[in-house]
Amino acid sequence: MDLYEYQAKELFAAHGVPVLPGTVVTTPEEARAAAEQLGQTVVVKAQVKTGGRGKAGGVKLADNPDEAQAKAEAILGLDIKGHVVRRVLVTPASDIAEEYYFSFLLDRANRTFLAMASAEGGVEIEQLAVERPEALAKIAIDPLAGVDLTKAREIVTAARFPAEVAEQAAEVIVKLWDTFVAEDATLVEVNPLVRDPRDQVVALDGKVTLDDNASFRHPGHAALVDQGAEDPLEAAAKAKDLNYVKLDGQVGIIGNGAGLVMSTLDVVAYAGEEFGGVKPANFLDIGGGASAEVMANGLEIILSDPDVRSVFVNVFGGITACDAVANGIVQAFQLLNSRGDEVNRPIVVRLDGNNAVEGRKILTDAALPGLQQVDTMDNAARVAAQLAAQGA
Ligand SMILES: Nc1ncnc2c1ncn2[C@@H]1O[C@H](COP(=O)(O)OP(=O)(O)OP(=O)(O)O)[C@@H](O)[C@H]1O
Ligand SMILES: [Mg+2]
Repeated sequence: MDLYEYQAKELFAAHGVPVLPGTVVTTPEEARAAAEQLGQTVVVKAQVKTGGRGKAGGVKLADNPDEAQAKAEAILGLDIKGHVVRRVLVTPASDIAEEYYFSFLLDRANRTFLAMASAEGGVEIEQLAVERPEALAKIAIDPLAGVDLTKAREIVTAARFPAEVAEQAAEVIVKLWDTFVAEDATLVEVNPLVRDPRDQVVALDGKVTLDDNASFRHPGHAALVDQGAEDPLEAAAKAKDLNYVKLDGQVGIIGNGAGLVMSTLDVVAYAGEEFGGVKPANFLDIGGGASAEVMANGLEIILSDPDVRSVFVNVFGGITACDAVANGIVQAFQLLNSRGDEVNRPIVVRLDGNNAVEGRKILTDAALPGLQQVDTMDNAARVAAQLAAQGA
């Protein structure tokens, strides 16, 4: 889960990282009131989960409450890379002497954590990494040893932070590591980390990604979920522990194994070109042990998507054999009927792999309404795409 800047900075503050106070508001009038309260020049900042807000006109200085109201008016509703601004942060304007870059992240390729730091922050760090890689220090962090003051000093030296702020920056880095570990984050980024004219080091921006696999350890993190922004189908799927992502096509997809589902999306999109650009409506991986209940929940979510015109169930039997999956489909129909949800759109099933013959026989014998079997993935995708086009 990615956090908004204001949420990231709330976590920073809780772990002792210096940040500026701020108020999150949703209307220009509230922005005015927030600026009045701060009683000084403020910055109005778009709260969206994407970078480059400044460049897109989402970060603006305001000298007085009138201006704060006007700037908020201009920023609210702005579309920044597909993210519509619904909230702005009103925070004191800081005098900036220098801007630095700092992050902790999970370095998957090297199976470790990484600190990245540069005395040349503020700018787009991706650009710096390409144009002047020597200016961006990358230091591996042993997850067991972590980051103490000694390690933090090593990072600060490698990043060439000026001597006047080196010790302070090292202390901030230790606190950012505390945040990273205590909150089970996979990313903590501060760009810019600034030095003010009095040589104080402050995190002016914050970006945090929390590891959802650790959410059971953090009941408090539930409050950070952005309910309004979440797709209702995805929220319903999450509540049922399904691995579901809503897409904008018409063919509902169910498969076992993320790789198979990914390639099913490709095959359906390709087959759909012939039928006026029919596309997959979702990603849904029901995983290895496809029980009847999981299959029923999956079908229920997919069929509650009004855009869906047909469903393609693509299963390659492995440890969970095709006969078990076929029984799951039969029971899923019964379960859905008993819940009062009829299966009212055509379903195309392709079973292959372990016990495919037995699985196909079970489905043939069950003669489920609207369900047909097609033996190959390509043909099944084509039939599902055609049915979706006809149903539209
Ligand atoms: N409180 C503040 N006071 C003064 N200047 C600020 C303040 N907050 C941000 N800025 C300036 O605006 C620039 C952009 O702000 P910020 O980094 O928060 O947003 P951003 O453009 O979205 O960055 P990113 O792409 O890293 O998300 C900063 O580099 C800084 O120069
Ligand atoms: Mg930034």
